[in-house]
Amino acid sequence: MTNNDLIKKAETVLNNNFKEDKGFTIPCEGLYPFQWNWDSGFIAVGFAHYDANKAKREVEALLSAQWENGFIPHIIFHNDSDTYFPGPEFHQSKLHPLASKSHRTTGMTQPPVLGFVLKEMYDIIEDKADILNFIKQNIDKVFNNHQHFYTHRDPNQEGLVFIYHNWESGTDNSPIWDDIWDTMDPPNYKFERRDTTHVDAAQRPTNREYDYYLHLIEIAKAHNYDEAKIAELSPFLVQDPLFNAMLIKSNAALIELYELIGDSEDKIKTLRQWQTKAITRFNEKLFNEKLGAYVHYDLRNEKQIEFLSSSSFAPIFADIPNEERAEIIVKTMMDKFGSEDRYLCASFDPDSDRFNPKKYWRGPVWINLNWLLFKGLKSYGFYDIANRVKDDSVQLIERYGFYEYFDSRKSVKENAGYGGNNFSWSAALLIDLLKC
Ligand code: DGY
Repeated sequence: MTNNDLIKKAETVLNNNFKEDKGFTIPCEGLYPFQWNWDSGFIAVGFAHYDANKAKREVEALLSAQWENGFIPHIIFHNDSDTYFPGPEFHQSKLHPLASKSHRTTGMTQPPVLGFVLKEMYDIIEDKADILNFIKQNIDKVFNNHQHFYTHRDPNQEGLVFIYHNWESGTDNSPIWDDIWDTMDPPNYKFERRDTTHVDAAQRPTNREYDYYLHLIEIAKAHNYDEAKIAELSPFLVQDPLFNAMLIKSNAALIELYELIGDSEDKIKTLRQWQTKAITRFNEKLFNEKLGAYVHYDLRNEKQIEFLSSSSFAPIFADIPNEERAEIIVKTMMDKFGSEDRYLCASFDPDSDRFNPKKYWRGPVWINLNWLLFKGLKSYGFYDIANRVKDDSVQLIERYGFYEYFDSRKSVKENAGYGGNNFSWSAALLIDLLKC
């Protein structure tokens, strides 16, 4: 198939998932029937290449549900649907006094991609005056979101923000969280899963895992989603290298965009202060010498979580390591995840006994992480490895389709695409990879 054919297919996937009436894109039919925060950001990058209007509407639809305190939730329930659990009646975002009045949402967030997405849109869209005007109208909302994080998600005021739920990480059922689950003993909730009616249960989290997920939400709800209370009480409190790298990359993008806009000296100054503090602390606290990579920090139990995942390498997307450290983490990535019989980049350490090649974030390759790694590797001059990440991503999609995630083992030659099919960010980021 030519690249142009593949791009056309990707556009069809995106166009079919776009909901014209509300102006947003579902991640995929059935499994994810609403608007998801970081999905939307990646989707906007794809649209930017061929339909600037849809890209802008996507971002606007997400920001239309921003809370009065700057918080941007992880799911916006623009519509009703009975194909997803847990829905708006479970999350009850309105318990928080500053929650969106116009939209039902969740009370948690997702990796803050919007800052760098705006910059990508600026770089891609040809009508610079129009896109800069759009950015002018929306950039302060993203700034407010970052301010919210540094004010309410950083109890030690050290420049690193916490997540209180695994769904905030984006890497939902990663083995990284297993030891935290061991510290909890939630009830066996009675609930009806919907995801496993769309996708083979072997590719999704277990019911017991859902008990932990729901329990964390119940704790937050019991305190009306007050983040000070959450910081005090949640058994899950983690400084995630992927989440913080996205925030740092978005800070950098906001600085560049405010410079283009002009007349925003105060905000630029604040952003630079956040950056210096965040990058310094990130390197001190989240690097693990023994593993040769960045790791998660369990803030509740005050220790590093010593496992390698694709999140361990994401900081190269945000210019966080110096050259020497970048060499180290790329070597770790290639030694542990990069053998010739594997596609790059498995989401979890393939040598670990917790690795599962089919199960969601416990091993499969994800196109959004590959996209971040591709861009980061290129920016540090690792061109060959960057190209391998790109080629592996394109090959997986070309062979198996626009799946949500893929088996990293090259020995699996059939049906190696898992989870949802016609998945929006796989389509959107494929377009971007093929055009750059
Ligand atoms: C899900 O429902 O699996 C989502 O990833 C939660 O955000």
